Amino acid sequence: MCGIVGYIGNQEAAPALIGGLRKLEYRGYDSAGIAVMGKNGLKVRKSKGALKFLEEKIAAELAAGDLSGSMGLGHTRWATHGEPSDINSHPHTDVSGKIAVVHNGIIENHAKLRAWLAGQGFRFRSETDTEVVAHLIDFYYKGELLPALISALKRLEGSYALGIISAEDPDHIIAARRESPLVAGLGKGKNLIASDVPALLEHTRDVYYLKDREIAILGRDGIDFYNEEGRPIEKEKFRIEWDAAAAEKAGYEHFMLKEIHEQPKALTDTLRARLRGAGSEPAGTDSGAAGSRSINLEEIGFDSSWAEAGRVVISACGTAWHAGVIGKYAFEHFARIPADVDVASEFRYRNPIYNPRDIFIILSQSGETADTLAAMRMAKKSGARIIAITNVVGSTLAREADLVMYTWAGPEIAVASTKAFTTQLMCLYLIALQFGSLRGVISAAELAAAIEALDKIPSQAERILADKETIQRFASLQFNKSKVFYMGRLFDYAASLESALKLKEISYTHCEAFAAGELKHGPIALVDPSTLVMALCTQTALFDKMVSNIKEVKARGASTAVITWEDADYFNETADSVFRIPRTLDSLSPMLSVIPAQLYAYYISVLRGLDPDKPRNLAKSVTVE
Ligand code: F6R
Repeated sequence: MCGIVGYIGNQEAAPALIGGLRKLEYRGYDSAGIAVMGKNGLKVRKSKGALKFLEEKIAAELAAGDLSGSMGLGHTRWATHGEPSDINSHPHTDVSGKIAVVHNGIIENHAKLRAWLAGQGFRFRSETDTEVVAHLIDFYYKGELLPALISALKRLEGSYALGIISAEDPDHIIAARRESPLVAGLGKGKNLIASDVPALLEHTRDVYYLKDREIAILGRDGIDFYNEEGRPIEKEKFRIEWDAAAAEKAGYEHFMLKEIHEQPKALTDTLRARLRGAGSEPAGTDSGAAGSRSINLEEIGFDSSWAEAGRVVISACGTAWHAGVIGKYAFEHFARIPADVDVASEFRYRNPIYNPRDIFIILSQSGETADTLAAMRMAKKSGARIIAITNVVGSTLAREADLVMYTWAGPEIAVASTKAFTTQLMCLYLIALQFGSLRGVISAAELAAAIEALDKIPSQAERILADKETIQRFASLQFNKSKVFYMGRLFDYAASLESALKLKEISYTHCEAFAAGELKHGPIALVDPSTLVMALCTQTALFDKMVSNIKEVKARGASTAVITWEDADYFNETADSVFRIPRTLDSLSPMLSVIPAQLYAYYISVLRGLDPDKPRNLAKSVTVE
């Protein structure tokens, strides 16, 4: 996720900006830049790659005093629109170079605004969604930033934290927020903005947290706050007592817990830009679907020719492969198209049978996993068309695939994947539904019901997280169980695979997942009183079968816990513990049912005194075989 820093004070801005950006490096980034307002006007310097490349680039200018100035903006970019490059890095400026903008978030209607601004004669330099903001402010600019910003914000859809400076006003930074974090720091003779507290702590511990639709204007001696109508507002000042390390994790004990909690936002970002129609686009835009919503994958190049495929083949590793297993079920369910799924390390050494009408979906959070890339290249060589689902813009997978659908989860720092998984599922469901719709196998009413259900998933995830103490309490009673099984049927089986992997990875518990129907064919031999069996039960038509399976393991002395719908009382008599999740379509359940399992794995790891962020023997990105 991008990092923002802004400094206005009585000292040199550039070193303060670089220092602040260094404190935001933990958020993950692929390029960095600064804009400094000095005697000779506004200077923007940016560089792809690590912060040190930017520092090297500006070293001579800094030493010569050519980047001198006491106001500026800094940014670390995590690419979303346009690959990592010098040009796509922030800050972005208007055509004349007098207004500089840094941005964190996603401007969802950027394509429409870009076309409109281009029609007004504005020339774009980058591929970013952010650049429209610079031009839009310039369009409304009549010598004062605040009214120009207010007019521009009215045109923006999506999420933003913005920092803006103008060469015509060397005494103010202006900032605004909607759905992306932004904090203002009140110092002595200096004031700052940042996307996170660690960037401020060197300068001040007195902060104001901006809320959605609030604006801050920072001078050298104070900060004023406004609402988006331009009316002044009062804000409460907070004193930061945490140390810097805790601040990096936004107060969470571990990155994994933070990332589990980021899922509602990540799911919203991944979904919202792919929906067209009421509620998903700004008023006044012509979506052609007034009053109803449809899936819009045209922006990623998915047209009807993709849906003519004869078969979908999915390949990936680890957690991404588990998403692929759920994807297979989703393609069969929503699109009635044959779908295969294979771990990439198997696929690349098999002798697979290709069909010219196959399309391949390759999933990878990092976009750099060696086995996954090898599978993708083999499929490509066969002439198959490739859809990549990845979290990293400009990754090798993204560059080599025919079509890319990004998961907008933001950087995932914990080794155990959480928000990348649920957002991969969101992408797969959207593609499967679009396939089904284009192939005419899903009715308009079914599609509308599925879209409505998808739209509720982020807030339903939020509700599960709000009740995390229930899972924490359960974990504290079960933490010395050395043998845990996850079982389920259909979508629950696939979700069990991922649930078991999480527990294995970070708690080192021997944990297996199996299809509940397989119980009698082998796994039941392992069940004894030392076993905990977690049963995922969201496939309503198979509740009876699951009750039988739970009874079978209970009869062998196992402790049992069920994850099921909040309105299903079916398992109250059978299982020892029941965890309830909000009701969605049975076919969409993994996006929700996995969250209690992620939390369970996390709490077990912590209770055992382990570091869930850095499990032994595992690396975040497996770039070698
Ligand atoms: C599990 C995990 C790994 C990765 C796997 C693939 O929590 O993180 O199993 O899912 O190594 O990585 P990507 O998705 O980067 O290809």
